[in-house]
Amino acid sequence: MNYEDNDSRLISTEFDYSEDSDIELSLRPKVLDDYIGQDKVKEKLKIYIAAAKNRNDILDHILLYGPPGLGKTTLAGIIANEMGVNFRVTSGPAIEKPGDLAALLTNLQEGDVLFIDEIHRLNRSVEEVLYPAMEDQVIDIIIGKGPSARSIRLDLHKFTLIGATTRAGQLSAPLRDRFGDVERLELYTTEQLAQIVTRSAGILGIEIERDGALEIASRSRGTPRIANRLLKRVRDFAEVVFDGVITEQSAMKSLNQMDIDELGLDQIDRTLLLTMIRNYNGGPVGLTTLAASIGEETVTIEDVYEPYLLQIGFLTKTPRGRCATPKAYSHLGIEYQVE
Ligand code: ADE
Repeated sequence: MNYEDNDSRLISTEFDYSEDSDIELSLRPKVLDDYIGQDKVKEKLKIYIAAAKNRNDILDHILLYGPPGLGKTTLAGIIANEMGVNFRVTSGPAIEKPGDLAALLTNLQEGDVLFIDEIHRLNRSVEEVLYPAMEDQVIDIIIGKGPSARSIRLDLHKFTLIGATTRAGQLSAPLRDRFGDVERLELYTTEQLAQIVTRSAGILGIEIERDGALEIASRSRGTPRIANRLLKRVRDFAEVVFDGVITEQSAMKSLNQMDIDELGLDQIDRTLLLTMIRNYNGGPVGLTTLAASIGEETVTIEDVYEPYLLQIGFLTKTPRGRCATPKAYSHLGIEYQVE
């Protein structure tokens, strides 16, 4: 997946490892009660965690899916913390060979949570090691080559795999079927994001008014990662240009200057919609054609731009392609003409 262009965006949902500092980690809630939003998922997880603890058992394998930046890693960390076990983090692309996964698995202790981000990007040979590990806590490793090669079976400790993916549909069926629980994370409401922004501001020692938090929240595309990033940039403006406090006015002016409009759309979102409207008469236009027209990867469009544009009703998906809606026309100040 190529998110290169997305990396430079303020509203990027790409995980930025330079942000993975102590401060950044401190913004992440550690217990379910501090995790804002995703109420249905949270309620179910509370029950599963209580039941497993009661039985002195470990949790079944869990698949978390949904658009990037919604807190899948955070939630997995909370699950491990609530279960009182170690939290081991890796990602699909980081595990290149079956041996890499075998090394990870054999180092797990009883009950540990192994978190694999972007699990849909595991290659086939690695995935095949995972099946017996998930099912029977064993791995078969081949030692040697040619006629002298032999397979040995290693017992593992019981562990919980938490997989994260942007789209569950991309997972192979055998892998998907091995998760005892599949949870979909939803985009957050403005109110929930305002709570997250207020909580983060408290941790970072930033003074913020409720209307300031709501202003940042309403431009964060339903995504906590974006909300927290915008909070930090708005703080810079507040400290240098304004009087240090994030108010509705200072937030609004800062975000306007960053070219993020009142719905959180940036230049690339607008280019995408304008291309559909100007070049394809509002659609339907196929995803591949659209991607080529604006110079983006199809997966980036699907994972990064579309979820929010669909949620706010600016885009529809039809069997013949994507269409811009009258709402999108109106937002861009273009008259909608029915053919
Ligand atoms: N930070 C990122 N996601 C969060 C969430 N869902 N609740 C609280 N803080 C968060």
